[in-house]
Formats: sequence, structure tokens, C-alpha cells
Amino acid sequence: MTQPIVVATDGSPAAAAAVTWAADDAVRKGLPLRIVHVLDRLPYDLPRYEIPDFEDRLSQAGRRILDEAAQAAREGRPGLEVTTELLFGDPAHVLRDQAGGSAELVMGSRGLGGFRGMLLGSVSANVAGHAEAPVVVVRATPATPHNEIVVGFDGSEESKPALVYAFEAARLRGCPLRVIYAYQIPVYTYAPVVVDDVEELRRVQEDFIRTELESWHDKHPEVETRLEVVCSHPVTALVEASEDADLLVVGSHGRRALTAVLLGSVSRGVLHHARCPVAVVRSKREAS
Ligand SMILES: Nc1ncnc2c1ncn2[C@@H]1O[C@H](COP(=O)(O)OP(=O)(O)OP(=O)(O)O)[C@@H](O)[C@H]1O
Ligand SMILES: [Mg+2]
Repeated sequence: MTQPIVVATDGSPAAAAAVTWAADDAVRKGLPLRIVHVLDRLPYDLPRYEIPDFEDRLSQAGRRILDEAAQAAREGRPGLEVTTELLFGDPAHVLRDQAGGSAELVMGSRGLGGFRGMLLGSVSANVAGHAEAPVVVVRATPATPHNEIVVGFDGSEESKPALVYAFEAARLRGCPLRVIYAYQIPVYTYAPVVVDDVEELRRVQEDFIRTELESWHDKHPEVETRLEVVCSHPVTALVEASEDADLLVVGSHGRRALTAVLLGSVSRGVLHHARCPVAVVRSKREAS
């Protein structure tokens, strides 16, 4: 059975941007698009807080959000198959379940809640940290096309599914892939200079990552790939690169994987600060 691309909308500007992004990606990938809205009864779900026709009114509002999103998705994309579904429950839990049966789950970086200036909503953060499928988080600000995809790769098993996703995205768009490996020289309070030969360290890092990448070049000869090894914090390097990218792809964990945390610090930092849509791709091992 073909798994659809699922996009979640709460009717917010970022969610509208997510719908457009998801519709374009569905066309690129030849997949159906499923738009979902989750109705959360919780704030009103108190025995002494009865509102007449509450269910009807809430469902009508949800239906309107879905209809508008479906119309936007169909506009200018005649062959695209679009379905909508109104779901009930805690949005983060419901969306995590939805991700299970999807090719990818697309959502806005923000929604209608939260405080002004907040960069990432709690639903997006929660879903990106748990979902089995790739989660793409889209910002409300309109993106300028750059014809480049960036992927963060640290050579770990955990970051390989991100490479698979990024190569496929670059192939479908026919654009180059910029692979970024950022490393840092550890700083110790009482022994500040542990590494004498910084250039040698750089060479060793670059050799390691270049060897790891070689088999990927062989598998995807049609994708033009550029490797960049930088001595910088990975979040800084990736956020800077996101300014010139159409999509930034990261794994949910890297070489310093702490299985106890749901999102590694790099994925978390990037989700907050990136300037373009971010795809967080989880490895099967982590998802199990
Ligand atoms: N009820 C919902 N139904 C469908 N999608 C939702 C729902 N709530 C959030 N989303 C999705 O999650 C994205 C981010 O919204 P989120 O709720 O995380 O941020 P927020 O509303 O700004 O902050 P918060 O809810 O944490 O106070 C939205 O753009 C949308 O894609
Ligand atoms: Mg919200």
C-alpha cells in the first residue's frame, strides 16, 4: 500500500506553509497527500464546563481548517490526490501515531499557541523527537529557492538515514547536495591546549568522513555532492548553511547519542534556529 505524505495543520501561518511544502513534495515523490487536523477537547473537557453544541461547533471549525488547506494544496497541482481527516485527542500523540503510517510527516514550526518569539512549538518538538517517519518542520516565512540541499553527517550509524533521505531529496529535485561535518576541539579548563597539530586533526577528521561518504557517491552518481569539514559547533555550521538551502536534513541523534534523550542537541538546536525547512530523520534502531 502506498503510504501518503501526512501534513498536520492547526490553521496557523506556519502550518499553511507546511501544507504548501507537503503538497509540492507529494508531487515530486508521486505520493498522495493527507491533511489532518487534531481536535483537542482537553481544555473544555471538564464535567462542570458544558457548552451547548460544543462538539458540532468544534468539528465545524476543524472542518473549515481542513477544507481551506485542501483547497490550497490542490491549487496549481491538478493531478495531486488530496484527502483530509479530522482526528480527536492530544495533538502530539495523535500526530506521532499518524507518522507511523506515513512516508513523512510535515508540520509547521509554530502553531497558534505559545508565546510571541517562541521558535518551536511543543507539538512540533514532541513529534520530531518521537515519530518513526521523517518529520519535516516548515517555517512561516516564505522560502527563497536556492537549489541546494544541506545534510549534517557525522559518520555515525544514527546519521545514515538522514543521508539516505537527503540523497533522494537532491535526486528528485535535481540539485546539488552539500554534506557538512562539523567537529570541535574539546576545551578543558586546566589543560587548554591538548591538541598540538590542529591541521593534522582536521586532516584525520576529513579522511574519516570522506571514506564514510565514498560508498554513497557510488550509489548516487547522479547527485553532485560537496563535502565540507568545518571546525565549528554543528548547530552554528548547519544554521549558517541553512541560509542558502532549500532543505536541511539531520538525524535525530548523532555520534554522541544518548538514548535517554529524544532529540540530540544538534537536531534540537537546528529545529529552533534554521532558516529553511528541516527534515529530522530517525534511524530504525532508535525508533524501536
Ligand atoms: N491541533 C493540531 N492539529 C494539527 N496539527 C497541529 C495541531 N497543533 C499543532 N499542530 C502542528 O504543529 C505545528 C506546530 O504547532 P505547535 O502547537 O507545536 O506550536 P505553538 O502552537 O506555537 O505552541 P504550543 O502549542 O506549544 O503552545 C503546527 O504548525 C501544526 O503543523
Ligand atoms: Mg499549538
